[in-house]
Amino acid sequence: MTQLPVRVAVLVSGGGTNLQSLLDALHDSPLARVARVISNRPDAGALDRARRAGVPATVLRDPADAAELLDALADADLVVLAGYLKLVPPAVVSRFRGRMINIHPALLPDFGGPGMYGHRVHAAVLASGATESGVTVHYVDEEFDRGEIIAQERVVVHSGDTPDSLAARVLEAEHRLLPRVVLDLARRIR
Ligand code: GRF
Repeated sequence: MTQLPVRVAVLVSGGGTNLQSLLDALHDSPLARVARVISNRPDAGALDRARRAGVPATVLRDPADAAELLDALADADLVVLAGYLKLVPPAVVSRFRGRMINIHPALLPDFGGPGMYGHRVHAAVLASGATESGVTVHYVDEEFDRGEIIAQERVVVHSGDTPDSLAARVLEAEHRLLPRVVLDLARRIR
């Protein structure tokens, strides 16, 4: 039986707008709260967001070190990868199987995998001529972007879209979908 609120650990590498959507959505939630933020980059803008929200933040010396990451995750009940660009060590994946999720800015299983992040994803979607893109939240396993899909939201691709304009529209969908999935999972694992 997990105590309420569910303790959410968020792994980040970049600016942290998805982290911010979680901080805002869980701010006074009885169900879940952002308990800690962990980054592989000391200069990640997301760390400033964590500090402003008074959430403990950790910078990993070696993201491939399972013991260090497990230590940083401590008593987390649910782990969210929000713009985290490193592969999670297998020992950590197995410890948090079914309780670790990732958000990806495309409709997996397409446009995912090693090296497929940020601008490259949207450029690949546009190059493919796809008429829609979107966002996927999935469970994390030992490979990039391959785990079981939990939820997706579709976004229309406009004829004049650039990777930046598409990325901006997808990011809006990300900020809607991620808090919703986290609250749903918190209800289920409590
Ligand atoms: C998002 O598009 C996310 O889907 C991807 O990396 C981007 C991170 O954005 N994995 P932010 O750091 O949350 O602003």
